[in-house]
Amino acid sequence: MKDILEQLETRRDDARLGGGQKRIDAQHARGKLTARERIDLLLDDGSFEEFDMFVTHRCTDFGMEQQKPAGDGVVTGWGTINGRLVYVFSQDFTVFGGSLSQTHAQKICKIQDMAIQNGAPVIGINDSGGARIQEGVDSLAGYAEVFQRNIEASGVIPQISVIMGPCAGGAVYSPAMTDFIFMVKDTSYMFVTGPDVVKTVTNEQVTAEELGGATTHTRKSSVADGAFENDVEALAEVRRLVDFLPANNRDMPPVRPFFDEPDRIEASLDTLVPSNANTPYDMKELIHKLADEGDFYEIQEDFAKNILTGFIRIEGRTVGVVANQPMVLAGCLDIDSSRKAARFVRFCDAFEIPILTLVDVPGFLPGTGQEYGGVIKHGAKLLFAYGEATVPMVTVITRKAYGGAYDVMASKHLRSDFNYAWPTAEIAVMGAKGATEIIHRADLNDPEKIARHTADYEERFANPFVAAERGFIDEVIQPRTTRKRIARAFASLRNKKAAMPWKKHNNIPL
Ligand code: HXC
Repeated sequence: MKDILEQLETRRDDARLGGGQKRIDAQHARGKLTARERIDLLLDDGSFEEFDMFVTHRCTDFGMEQQKPAGDGVVTGWGTINGRLVYVFSQDFTVFGGSLSQTHAQKICKIQDMAIQNGAPVIGINDSGGARIQEGVDSLAGYAEVFQRNIEASGVIPQISVIMGPCAGGAVYSPAMTDFIFMVKDTSYMFVTGPDVVKTVTNEQVTAEELGGATTHTRKSSVADGAFENDVEALAEVRRLVDFLPANNRDMPPVRPFFDEPDRIEASLDTLVPSNANTPYDMKELIHKLADEGDFYEIQEDFAKNILTGFIRIEGRTVGVVANQPMVLAGCLDIDSSRKAARFVRFCDAFEIPILTLVDVPGFLPGTGQEYGGVIKHGAKLLFAYGEATVPMVTVITRKAYGGAYDVMASKHLRSDFNYAWPTAEIAVMGAKGATEIIHRADLNDPEKIARHTADYEERFANPFVAAERGFIDEVIQPRTTRKRIARAFASLRNKKAAMPWKKHNNIPL
């Protein structure tokens, strides 16, 4: 018996070495951790339980039968993050470059199936040379099996991808179908075709980093939701994110202990909005001041900065925040910000996370660039996302809410539950100057008259009371009381039940 137990331990030790010490050292030399070290950092100490440690590939071509490392290039299993169940796979670059074989894919599929069945998030750590070249179409079939499960799991369990090495070719499409993608600066990249193919086909000369590094995907393409300095920081941030999320779409987000009074009065908010309507202010300050302990977990911080998206907690409960940022493009809605916010709203709605919308929006960004780029279709995404959302929604208009953007930003008419405005709010079809120049075109050459008309318009429309008189705004509130108001509003909505008419699925403008 003793021998048998020892044999097991020897086999396990062997499997834990993956592609061998030399390759582990090479991985470390690049500033990267190994697949197992990453899992250890991601999960609670000692909570990891592994599946399929002894699985090997079945390929017999190209002399592959000579090398059959246990585990076949991916470590899979389950464990906990702050005591909550998650499933995880972590590709092992030391084994055939983490490339995906048929059996490697089967291991990933097994934990995806378990996660869907048991209602827990999947976290995938990607570090792979792509399809296992020796296996040909078996490997492609393996990818497609993973993709299909990504799709089935979408909206059922949270799926998080962490890119910690190469992720190229069709392999990028598994992360692309998950809810969040995080990358590590300088050591990870994602692209459909690499720099060599780009050079051959388009004659462009570009490095892997420029083509698909963390900076590219968090600032330009918006494929990734966050970029971190190293593996350790990225994994710590994934732990933080998981704490905000429910385990599945039938569960509620976790309630964390909080040490911040829900009715905390924040006197500084009374002077947050500058007296000049064209002077910007930092909407992040408001978010921090509303959140429990000032904690804001921002998503897509470096992309479309004219809108802010992320998670806070109010009374220990997760709330998704969407907020116009007057510091960038005056907080205008445009193609990128609409897409960014729409995807975030849909995530929150799929996972029963209430949404707080903070509005200061002068309208949609004008111009040929926007129109040719399809701002109509992309702007409609955000409108659609809010309109289909059935989670509790609270909206606070701090300053401008003009035109179509007023409607889009979780207005009463899109079934938002509580619509508050600060006394500084201006809710109208458009700004006073533009409006005056249109309705008093005949007086355009008379600056005095135009000034009078503008002042008139401001007096009549640049306030929250016209909307409040119609019940489109439920209450005009003192800025200092905002945290208390929204905390009470969300508390009152905890049993909200709302539904859309039956349909197979909607046809959101993609
Ligand atoms: C089999 C692979 C492999 C692969 C790497 N290796 N990629 N083995 N299939 N796809 C092996 C290497 O042979 C090597 O083995 C070890 O992994 C490490 O690779 P290196 O090249 O030494 O590492 P590095 O210099 O860091 O380069 C990493 C790399 C490069 C950029 C990922 O290996 C590379 O370009 N690989 C091929 C990428 C690719 O074309 N994949 C197919 C894409 S198509 P030894 O034994 O020497 O350590 C695809 C389609 C998916 O993925 C479709 C889904 C629908």
